[in-house]
Amino acid sequence: MAKEVLEVIRQRRSVRSFLPQPVAPELIMTLLEAAVWAPSAGNLQPWQFYVVRAPEAKAKLARAAGQAFVAQAPVVIVACALPEQSAAVYGSRGRLLYCLQDVAAAVQNMLLAASSLGLAACWVGAFREEAVVQALNLPPEVRPVVLLPLGYGGETAVAPPRHPLSRVVQWVD
Ligand SMILES: Cc1cc2nc3c(=O)[nH]c(=O)nc-3n(C[C@H](O)[C@H](O)[C@H](O)COP(=O)(O)O)c2cc1C
Repeated sequence: MAKEVLEVIRQRRSVRSFLPQPVAPELIMTLLEAAVWAPSAGNLQPWQFYVVRAPEAKAKLARAAGQAFVAQAPVVIVACALPEQSAAVYGSRGRLLYCLQDVAAAVQNMLLAASSLGLAACWVGAFREEAVVQALNLPPEVRPVVLLPLGYGGETAVAPPRHPLSRVVQWVD
């Protein structure tokens, strides 16, 4: 039974340690379905998702990020933007902003879906883009935005604190 959305939002954590246990393809497909139901500017859906399970490719992604735990995950979903698709409709705002926001929304959907299904994951944004392009042989129109290592968690992550709302919210009445 899936948890309530607010509970999942609150309990989701970045997990950086994974058990070797594989993830069933049906679960991966469920996450990808969640991804594509994210909102996107003009509903352009300017994204592509690479599901990486090959050990050598995962090792290359981990090296591109300088983060070894990426290779430990049984699956790494590489969420990519198609900037020129957005630019064709929205110009530079599409190229530089909307397509990245669209991918970010899709990634957050996957993180929440993963958490609700008992899977562990981590948003990895720090990587050498060119190295990821090479690792996956991406065509020039595809920009890798997020690496999402995914699996069954090998640790219980502690929730990092949040700024209080009083610091981050301004009410304009
Ligand atoms: C844009 C972005 C980039 C991130 N890049 C990395 C990363 O490269 N490596 C990593 O371990 N975590 C990365 N994170 C995860 C954050 O460190 C994490 O979300 C934050 O510390 C809050 O912890 P929580 O996700 O458990 O709430 C990234 C998160 C975001 C949104």
